[in-house]
Amino acid sequence: MSLESIKYKRGNLEILDQLLLPLQTRYVKVRGVEDGWKVINKMQVRGAPAIAIVGCLSLAVELLNDDMSDKKHMRQEIEGKLNYLVSARPTAVNIKLAAEELINLANTLCADETVSVDEFKERFICSIESMLMKDIEDNKAIGRYGCEAILNNLDGEGQVRILTHCNTGSLATAGYGTALGVIRSLHAAKRLEHVYCTETRPYNQGARLTAYELVHEKIPATLIVDSMVSALMHARKIDAVVVGADRVAANGDTANKIGTYQIAIVAKYHEVPFYVAAPLTSIDMSLSSGERIKIEERPDREMTHIGEHRIAAQGINCWNPSFDVTPGALITGIITEKGVYVPHKLKEAVHS
Ligand code: MRU
Repeated sequence: MSLESIKYKRGNLEILDQLLLPLQTRYVKVRGVEDGWKVINKMQVRGAPAIAIVGCLSLAVELLNDDMSDKKHMRQEIEGKLNYLVSARPTAVNIKLAAEELINLANTLCADETVSVDEFKERFICSIESMLMKDIEDNKAIGRYGCEAILNNLDGEGQVRILTHCNTGSLATAGYGTALGVIRSLHAAKRLEHVYCTETRPYNQGARLTAYELVHEKIPATLIVDSMVSALMHARKIDAVVVGADRVAANGDTANKIGTYQIAIVAKYHEVPFYVAAPLTSIDMSLSSGERIKIEERPDREMTHIGEHRIAAQGINCWNPSFDVTPGALITGIITEKGVYVPHKLKEAVHS
């Protein structure tokens, strides 16, 4: 059984509390938009696709229990609530794009006089619900394309060693995963020798979540701390790096978990192909480059404490950007559900 970060049945949404993993498995009920905002902001749910899906589903749950009888009022409420949800975390673009699409849908349904208020609600909720299946299908396609691209680089029929950063698996998506989906796909094809995952300081998504998923899936894996990447590439042959993305600009510059940029530099030096695996919903064509991506800064406490235990000197200043931007020039290919694109050809993926 794959790990399930989102449990949804019409009117009922629960998310696996990722603050408690890997020590406890507890689901939290999300009763509406206020809860949705909180679980995203507190990182009880995290990962760009999962954030978008949970945010939108929280609205679906709230709408179902609302007995609004006026379409214009419903449209207005939807727009306000979606904009509020987008504000919970600023870097991942998936929720922003999903909100824009849903606001357009609400505008269309509102303007169509043949659509009753009940039909408006029903069609709107169905559209949100379809995000779950679509994300899993997209991830499986990403897995296939990524597996193919990595193996095409290989001389012969051997197995590969992969390095990944942060968490991009079932817990960060509706299921299967993006970068972890590629790894899953290589493993299923019996072409994965080993995967190395970074600890991913300061929040430790690698040690807490990726490692948990890899152990759960019985995929041969080793955990390293973030500062070991150069040594790893020098000492053990790594065939490719695969990471996820929170926002990809039109030129391929990619915002992802802090530390991704330095891994890409190290990969370039060691001539290791560096792939970003992301659905098209992570691509923001409105930004010409990564310079304009807003980077979320998180509380010092993520760095100074582990749980309740302080590990940093009292009084020290901290800087805690949650993401960094890897220039497109360091990226070998962006693996999407439509195929693998070199950064400057991304437009083709979006418009195909
Ligand atoms: O701060 P997080 O845990 O939400 O950051 C997650 C990442 O950076 C992931 O690598 C990214 O969202 C891709 S998830 C498929």
